[in-house]
Amino acid sequence: MSLVSSSTPGVRQENFRFRCIGCGDLSDAASQDFRCGRCGDLLEITYPTWNEKKPDAATLKSAWQKRRLSSSPIDLSGVWRYRDLLPALDDEQQVITLREGNTPLYELPQCARLTSVPRLFAKHQGMNPTGSFKDAGMTVAATFARCAGFRWVACASTGNTSASMAAYAARGGMRGLVLVPEGKISWSKLSQALDYGAVTCQLRTDFDGCLKLLQELVRKAPVYQLNSINPFRLEGQKTLAIELLEQLDWQVPDHIIVPGGNLGNSSAIGKALLEMRELELISRLPKLSVIQAEGANALVRTLREAGGKRLISVPPETRATAIRIGNPASWKKAAHVLEATGGACEQVTEREIAQAKAEIGAEGIGCEPASAVTLAGLKKLVKQGFVTRDQTVVLVLTGNLLKDPDFTIDFHRGEMFGGGPESGAVDSLRHPPIVLDASLDAVMRTLERFN
Ligand code: F0G
Repeated sequence: MSLVSSSTPGVRQENFRFRCIGCGDLSDAASQDFRCGRCGDLLEITYPTWNEKKPDAATLKSAWQKRRLSSSPIDLSGVWRYRDLLPALDDEQQVITLREGNTPLYELPQCARLTSVPRLFAKHQGMNPTGSFKDAGMTVAATFARCAGFRWVACASTGNTSASMAAYAARGGMRGLVLVPEGKISWSKLSQALDYGAVTCQLRTDFDGCLKLLQELVRKAPVYQLNSINPFRLEGQKTLAIELLEQLDWQVPDHIIVPGGNLGNSSAIGKALLEMRELELISRLPKLSVIQAEGANALVRTLREAGGKRLISVPPETRATAIRIGNPASWKKAAHVLEATGGACEQVTEREIAQAKAEIGAEGIGCEPASAVTLAGLKKLVKQGFVTRDQTVVLVLTGNLLKDPDFTIDFHRGEMFGGGPESGAVDSLRHPPIVLDASLDAVMRTLERFN
């Protein structure tokens, strides 16, 4: 069964094609597993019309700015606003949108002092409608799922994809099937999928096991998979980088640092950077670096021990459950964009993640543990001299602080990383709740103690 073909109503097929990242085969349609019919590798979306006539950079920039004044739903979306670089729809009313994108770019003055990198920013994707960067990809992929006539959409997830997919399925009048590893995703994320009405299955396996099962399922049943193997997801996630550059007034930062799990997001950001350079929206590339948790470091090992030629899978373990992934599907795409932009790949410990998360929290911003690997990784990259103090750095914060309250509470109550040689730095960041009698005197004494 073809997911998108020239006969799909509402889709302007001549605007894009699928290209295999392995053998380069071009096709108009993709099968349900989004794998190349010839060699089995992953597909990406390309825009053949750019070869004949490249979109003009100045025209694009001014169109995007003008759309900010419009009140039509497609212009209010911080993803579809950039639709000139996305697969096109004939009928723009088809779009399923929750006003995703439009996420803030914050300065991080305290973290800048800590890292000695004065021009340090956070692009906060956790400010999306369901609290993570997944919404930017989901609006595009869910829209194309509905155009292709699917009643069911499905995903394997460490939590955020499932929350996002469930929301967009509900908004689009489709049913959602969620496969998550039992006991290994946060309650907040699980509760989102339930509230948005998805059929939620907690499988006794890890994320990689869920994804494997989903791949088998889509070959047997008419369900449309919305994992980041789906190249429409990555097209939507690309807009993070476009919006970022627009927010920086098209001044290219030196570094963009992103967490790495299944490696779809780094691939999407890298694709956007390469396309923006091709279209002369920017004249040089930032270095895109990927940071992983030490216990889920498949890309780090793949690059260091196999020169990026073959995937080294790992049995994943980290409390940053969003990136608890050992067999990342998009590793080849990510290795390619790291090489193309000259970025680095690093790993950070559980303690470093917790510390960085508290430091981002202390800025009044906050993020979930997986996002905090970016700050922890930046500290390492500064130490190595890969990032220097005169450079501009953007951390991509992928998920909202409220996504994983258990982690935050355990940390502040001192139930994580007590003692040990480095505990001083971590302990000074803890702000445990204080239980008191309900007396003015007790509260006044507490105030004095912290004064
Ligand atoms: N940060 C957060 C908050 C995530 O939820 C994820 C992935 C990542 C980073 C890593 O991004 O996979 O594109 O490299 N979460 C997926 C999920 C796997 O199911 O929610 P990636």
